This record gives sequence, structure tokens and C-alpha cells, in this order.
Amino acid sequence: MSEIEKITQIRQMMPAVRNQVYLNTGTCGPLSTLTIETMNQANTLELEAGRADLSGFKLLGETIDELRGAFARLVKARPEEIALTHHTTEGINIVAHGLRWQPGDEVVTTTSEHEGGLLPVYALGQRYGVQVKVIDISPESVVEQLEAAITARTRLLVFSHVLWNTGARLPLAEIVAMAHYHHVLTLVDGAQSAGSIPLDLPASGVDFYALPGQKWLCGPEGTGALYVRQDRLGLVAPTFVGYSTLEDVNGYDFTGYFLPARNSARRYEVGTLYRPGFKGMAANLKWLEETVGWDWIYQRIELMAEYARNALQTLPGVTILTPPGPQAGLVTFNVESLDPAKTMAKLAKDGIILRYIRHPYALRISTGFYNSEEDIDRLVSALRTYMDA
Ligand SMILES: Cc1ncc(COP(=O)(O)O)c(C=O)c1O
Repeated sequence: MSEIEKITQIRQMMPAVRNQVYLNTGTCGPLSTLTIETMNQANTLELEAGRADLSGFKLLGETIDELRGAFARLVKARPEEIALTHHTTEGINIVAHGLRWQPGDEVVTTTSEHEGGLLPVYALGQRYGVQVKVIDISPESVVEQLEAAITARTRLLVFSHVLWNTGARLPLAEIVAMAHYHHVLTLVDGAQSAGSIPLDLPASGVDFYALPGQKWLCGPEGTGALYVRQDRLGLVAPTFVGYSTLEDVNGYDFTGYFLPARNSARRYEVGTLYRPGFKGMAANLKWLEETVGWDWIYQRIELMAEYARNALQTLPGVTILTPPGPQAGLVTFNVESLDPAKTMAKLAKDGIILRYIRHPYALRISTGFYNSEEDIDRLVSALRTYMDA
């Protein structure tokens, strides 16, 4: 199949990218017909067969195993290192609240974090008297800047692999190595990296990595995963616990004893799940992995980001805020004469979906594997029209 045929077929399966110029996967990716059909079938089954018989639970068990395996392969981890979550922020909270804190302990994080990374850390400050240091970073000297903020009391570094504001790709393995040299753990927000750049979490050495299903992985809301390095499981106590936490059904008694899943991040899972969502996500990841192909996806995202950078650069007065070098799919920019918020609203009326961000105040696009050169050309030509108006 030619490249064009492949892209046409993908776009055929993702109506949202044909009905508009879809450039905001950093907020939510487009769904595929396969995902929705799978969810619809699961919903119909629940409607007609009910949700209480054993076969439904058996099916759920199989879906959970399939999904855990797919997330594990995505990040090159073992299934036992993956907890299924409902979004990135849940994963960040599991780790933040699961570590054992003492007043005066320090956490270092950055002003480039999303609320999903920042607020759980602020809560540690309020609840346990943890000192939170929020520092400015610039991608070219991020390792040195983070290192300079570390003291003997620092226990955790919280940062994003790909920054949601400027789209910069941070050097994960280098930051982790530096942190570990100072005996500091690393908790990474993978909201903008999972599904947009290749990940090999064990090779990076990272301790904890939280990711969403609904963004670059194009899954339904309410899906996500948390990677916990095998040898770090003992450092994070499960904060929320329930039947899913247990090693097996006999894993508790009436003396106050319970046994969380041994040697498995499954111990951070709690209770009943929305089965159609998890089924849809499992089918979606299978399609991405086996039919579309991760390597192809990553290359295409980077190619489209490069294409967008070059195309935007033809506009007079444009500033690209995303650093050059390997791209992750987010391109943040400003056009001198255009106000980001107003431009976003205008573009939406013209069927072009992107977002503005507040810090820095700028426009941000997300280039997905399903985008076409024509999508980018339409954006650039719309911006040109607004500039001339
Ligand atoms: C970097 C980053 N972290 C966290 C989030 C929140 O993600 P979630 O809704 O999956 O918790 C977002 C996006 O909204 C994000 O861009």
C-alpha cells in the first residue's frame, strides 16, 4: 500500500479529521470508527445481556490483560509495571500521595507543568509540609537548571517529557541519570509524549511515568496508564485501595490485613471500571500497533511537525516557540499581528481546530499521524487571510 493510500485509509477511519482541520490532539485525539464500533458493541452487550453475569466479568478480565499488555509494549515495560488508570493526573496523584513524606522534604518541579503535574505536588505542600520548588527551565540547559535546584532534602523531581506549552522534548534519560546521581526519584508527566514519540521507559531509568489514553493515543476518555519501575513498587503505598488492589480474592481477612498484588502495579487499581471504554481502548491500541504501526506513527508525526514549522515560517512576523531538533508533534507559535485567543475562535469558525495557551500566550497546534499537508496549508492560508484583513 502506498503512503497516500495508507493515510487516506486512516482518515477514512477517523471522520473528525475529515470534518474539520484537526490540530488539537494535545487536548484530545480523534477517535476511530473501530474504537466507537467496539464501544457500541460493548454497550449493546451490556444493555441486552446485562452486566451481572460471570461471562461479562471474564471478558473484562481479558480486556484488562490485553490493555495492560498493549500499554506495556508501548513503553517497552513489563505488564507488571503498568497500572491502568483513567487519566494522566490520576497516575501523578498515585505516586505523589503514595510516597512517604516528612515535613521539610523537597519536590522540584517546573513552571512548564500542566495543572495535572503541579497541583498534586502543591497538595503535598499543603498536606505534609513538603517544600515545593517551581523553577523556570529552558530546554537547552534543563539538566543543569534542575540540578541546581536539588538539595540534600530533595526527594522527587516532577517534570513533563514533552512540555505542553512549547512542545519541547526534554532529555528524559539524562534528567533521570542526574536525579538518581543525587538520590532523587523522578515522576514524569507523559501526557504529550505517549503516542507521539518513541518510549523505552526501562532504558531511560525513569521511576514513575503517567500517561493518558485520550490524547496522542486517540482513545476514549477515562483511560490511561501509570508505569512504576519494578524495583520502585515498594516505595509507593497504594492510597486508594479496593478489590482490584488485591493479590487475589482471598487477599484479606477480618483482622485488618490485606495483601496488595505482589510485584505488580495492579496494586494501584481500585474498583469497577467502564467496560466499553476499556474495550474500545484495547481495540484502538491493537489497531495502532498492528495495522498503523508505532514506528510509522512517530515518523509521520515528526514529519508533519517539520512541515508545519516550515509552512508557518513563510508567514511574516511569525515566531516559532517550539525548539528546533527532534519534534514531538506540538508546534507553538505567535504571529505578530494576531491575538491568540481571538485567532483560535476565528479559526474554529473556519473549521480549523487548535488551541491557544496562556503561558506563554501563543497558539499551539498538534500534528497527528492522520493529518495531511493540506491541513497545514489550510491553517497557514487562513492565518494569512486574517493578517491581511
Ligand atoms: C502535560 C499535561 N499533563 C496533564 C494533562 C492532563 O491530562 P489528563 O486529563 O489525562 O489528566 C494535560 C492535558 O490536558 C497535559 O497536557
